[in-house]
Amino acid sequence: MKRMIALSIVAVALNGWIGEKAMAQPLVPLPPSPPVPLSNLQTPAKVALGKKLFFDPKLSVNGSISCAFCHMPKAGFADPRPVSIGVGGKRGGRNAPSALNAAYLDRQFWDGRAGSLEEQAIGPLTNPVEMENPTNQSVVDRLRKIPFYHRSFREVFGGDVSIDRIGEAIAAYERTLLTPNTPYDRYLMGEKKALSPSAQKGFLLFKGKARCVLCHSGALLTDQSYHNLGVPQMGTLSTDVGRYAISHDPADKGKFRTSPLRNVALTSPYMHDGAFKTLKQVVDFYNKGGGKSPFKTKDPLLQPLHLTKQEKIELVDFLLALNGETVSQKNQP
Ligand code: HEC
Ligand code: HEC
Repeated sequence: MKRMIALSIVAVALNGWIGEKAMAQPLVPLPPSPPVPLSNLQTPAKVALGKKLFFDPKLSVNGSISCAFCHMPKAGFADPRPVSIGVGGKRGGRNAPSALNAAYLDRQFWDGRAGSLEEQAIGPLTNPVEMENPTNQSVVDRLRKIPFYHRSFREVFGGDVSIDRIGEAIAAYERTLLTPNTPYDRYLMGEKKALSPSAQKGFLLFKGKARCVLCHSGALLTDQSYHNLGVPQMGTLSTDVGRYAISHDPADKGKFRTSPLRNVALTSPYMHDGAFKTLKQVVDFYNKGGGKSPFKTKDPLLQPLHLTKQEKIELVDFLLALNGETVSQKNQP
């Protein structure tokens, strides 16, 4: 009987995944370094320049906010506010995900609309609810007038400030925002005591009864695919269609990328709209089989889990063991 249930889970899962062109990845430790494109090799000077840009409010139209304003080092390079606040207090529609380990993701954003960190980094500059610059060129012109940037871009790239080079330097810095060596990684590598007995039980639940691994798999604990969980719609948008806005496939309505779970203890609130404050609330949500969606795309993988109070605690204890070594001081101002 047990085996039949297990098989049917696999069958349902495979259906979903084949449809999504994604596969469950093995649960493995974080690789020591992320992929680096040949067109943007890492150099210490480029990383230092990217770090300077990441923390510099001069990137925004009126000098008020930097990338770190919404990706705060103290909040796991995510935003503790449910939705981000841009220049002049404008509220965006979504919660800022962590920039930590984003370098390992194939695509960026909740809807996967950016293909690389280089491409992603340029987006916020002209986003009307983020840095609000009228054009990319206006940012370039501003930075060219600042002697430090004028000099540094020459040293790093052998040429003047350009929009592509801004993206490249920031991306190079982001490729150093890695958090290896979590208790979970050490456990996977054979150090059985790295996880508390409760977290070990939580890991078994994660892979079994609680079904989390059906979507949260691979080194980042995400299938990098899109699902509709019926997360309650909060905040400024009346409905967020998610991936549909990019793919225009009706089957993608209300779907968002499976969140990577590393450092999740630091990045409250949770989900694309910051609907939940605590991991306990997230687990309660899954325990009920997810929420109600206005779209007919809710994921059939979600179903009531019948977790006991104790099991919920164990699952949260496992999630707490996904915190990595804090990004070294040299990566922060
Ligand atoms: C006003 C707040 C705000 C600012 C400023 C901002 N971001 Fe973001 N960032 C967000 C939000 C919100 C999202 C998610 C948006 C979405 O998915 O639609 C995001 C997404 C990202 C992601 C994708 C991560 C993932 O898991 O897919 C990266 C990387 C990132 N930002 C880096 C940056 C960089 C670099 C800058 C500066 C150039 C920056 N952000 C400026 C709010 C902000
Ligand atoms: C059907 C696929 C699926 C399953 C099964 C699943 N998740 Fe998720 N998870 C997602 C998606 C998709 C999101 C983002 C949803 C959104 O924001 O609308 C997410 C988001 C999360 C978040 C929020 C992270 C953040 O940074 O905001 C946590 C925590 C989480 N899941 C934990 C779990 C746990 C624990 C389980 C098992 C009880 C589980 N998930 C089962 C797909 C899944």
